[in-house]
Amino acid sequence: MKVIVVKNAAEGGKQGFQVFKDALANGAKVFGLATGSTPISTYDEITSSDLDFSHVTSVNLDEYVGLGPDHPQSYNYFMHEHFFNKKPFANSYLPDGLNKDAEAETKRYDKVIADNPIDLGILGLGRNGHIGFNEPGTPFDSTTHQVKLTESTIAANARFFDNEEEVPKYAYSMGIGSILKDKQILLEAYGEEKADAVKGMIEGPVTPDLPASSLQNHDKVIVVIDEAAASKLSKKY
Ligand code: GLP
Repeated sequence: MKVIVVKNAAEGGKQGFQVFKDALANGAKVFGLATGSTPISTYDEITSSDLDFSHVTSVNLDEYVGLGPDHPQSYNYFMHEHFFNKKPFANSYLPDGLNKDAEAETKRYDKVIADNPIDLGILGLGRNGHIGFNEPGTPFDSTTHQVKLTESTIAANARFFDNEEEVPKYAYSMGIGSILKDKQILLEAYGEEKADAVKGMIEGPVTPDLPASSLQNHDKVIVVIDEAAASKLSKKY
């Protein structure tokens, strides 16, 4: 893992932009994208740049089950607001949260991923070390699946909803096995509440108890973190 420590998320966005730009210059055709507050500074840099990515594809990590593209808390809505409406890709894929048939939807999304192998995957990090919505305990060879969200993730995401009851209890998520097939990965994490997960991801044992530790098994990972998220690391990077 290449670890880059920055002052804050704004600086991280500049690093993220550079990684995206380099991948594009090297011929990347498919970008894996994440939601959450973390990648916003990178997305802002990308969408306000003059980069031309109108010929490439994006594939998102996950979506809440039960929320459609018109729901302001759906990841589909988020991606349009923070990225696609500002500057679109040629094609953009997300799991369909309104498809109640989990088996059909996860199968369909696995085919989307197989047909569009990801050159650069952009990831955030959950406080418990989850990537996408792959909660602790998810096998490292998992493909797209329906996830029952943990209490801690529901609580963490409740800030975006009127109250905790409104937070969906299930999501569709790309699996860890699928994420590990990305040719290159950029993971960003900012803030003190990510420091434990960051330490486990970089320095801890590789274990399904901390899904992001699986990235130690990937040979092309760039981690961009701020000083607060880096505060529990045992050495300087
Ligand atoms: C959600 C998403 C993840 C994201 C995580 C962290 O659970 N499914 O993809 O990485 O939240 O969110 P944030 O970046 O807002 O801290």
